[in-house]
Amino acid sequence: MQNSIIDIEKEALESIEKASDSEQLEQFSIKYLGRKGELTKFLRNISSLPEDERPSAGKNANILKTKLEKAVKAALSKIEAYDDKAFTGIDVTLPGRFVQRGSCHPITQVAKEISDIFLRLGFDIAEGPEVETDYYNFEALNIPKYHPARDMQDTFYVSENIVLRTHTSPSQPRAMEKTQPPLRIIAPGKVFRCDSDITHTPMFYQIEGLMVDQNVSFGDLKGVLTTFVHQFFDTQTSLRFRPSFFPFTEPSAEVDIRCVMCKGKGCRICSKTGWLEVLGSGMVHPAVFENVGYDTQKYTGFAFGIGIERMAMLKYGIDDIRKFYENDLRFLGQF
Ligand code: PHE
Repeated sequence: MQNSIIDIEKEALESIEKASDSEQLEQFSIKYLGRKGELTKFLRNISSLPEDERPSAGKNANILKTKLEKAVKAALSKIEAYDDKAFTGIDVTLPGRFVQRGSCHPITQVAKEISDIFLRLGFDIAEGPEVETDYYNFEALNIPKYHPARDMQDTFYVSENIVLRTHTSPSQPRAMEKTQPPLRIIAPGKVFRCDSDITHTPMFYQIEGLMVDQNVSFGDLKGVLTTFVHQFFDTQTSLRFRPSFFPFTEPSAEVDIRCVMCKGKGCRICSKTGWLEVLGSGMVHPAVFENVGYDTQKYTGFAFGIGIERMAMLKYGIDDIRKFYENDLRFLGQF
């Protein structure tokens, strides 16, 4: 008889452990503790046991009964704590909600990197509006109406005399009107042109540079730009100053660097020439000085305009300018 109570206990505790909802526990209670349950039956049958076994059998059965009742209660409260429908509190086991961390856009990063180089060379940062007057964008820069140079810089007209600026060069007359020489500024910002293909977007970024003082020479221009290229890429990158034309500089030079991809051997990126055009530059045209009231006998200066996307593309080996503006986080997250 003792054996059978041990069997009941073992079996009962196992099935309590297995029970996964309150329904199963209810079934269990009926099976063992109910009126026709195993334990109840056992208690009833005690009278049929030999007299000397009765007291201990009764005692053990009652102990087990209390034990099982307690176990059912404990199992039930455990199940309720995990029961979705009954649950109203905070589930501390849920993973937290992460806020994705952003980073600066690659163009912003490269613009900062370029600016930092010029800041170390003693340049200050100036700014100009993106919606610009025809006067500052063209006239003040010696580009009169109907001048063919306007054709290369067709843009978005807000009205006849208001445009989205086509370059950062209007920052030059704006800065000069405000300050007398000596002057050393850079002006980063957005510019706009009627252009759209794999290397052009209708909106892109430039950094303008301007230095005016007595005795500023083309040698200074070369020195500053060479230092810039060596710091931005590396000191092995050689430069080439190629004669060019801008109405607001004379003489003007387009600056090429040795192709950073093939190191000058000739590849797809440099169209097999070994050189890459990276910026426009020149000595400030006296007509521009006259427009802002600078003494052309006393002062000379140089200016340059760097395309920021182009710099970023060369530095990071990006082959399509449009990637910068597609807002694909898989691309942007790499920088
Ligand atoms: N503004 C010219 C351009 O957008 C670049 C430039 C700037 C050239 C300053 C000379 C001096 O192409």
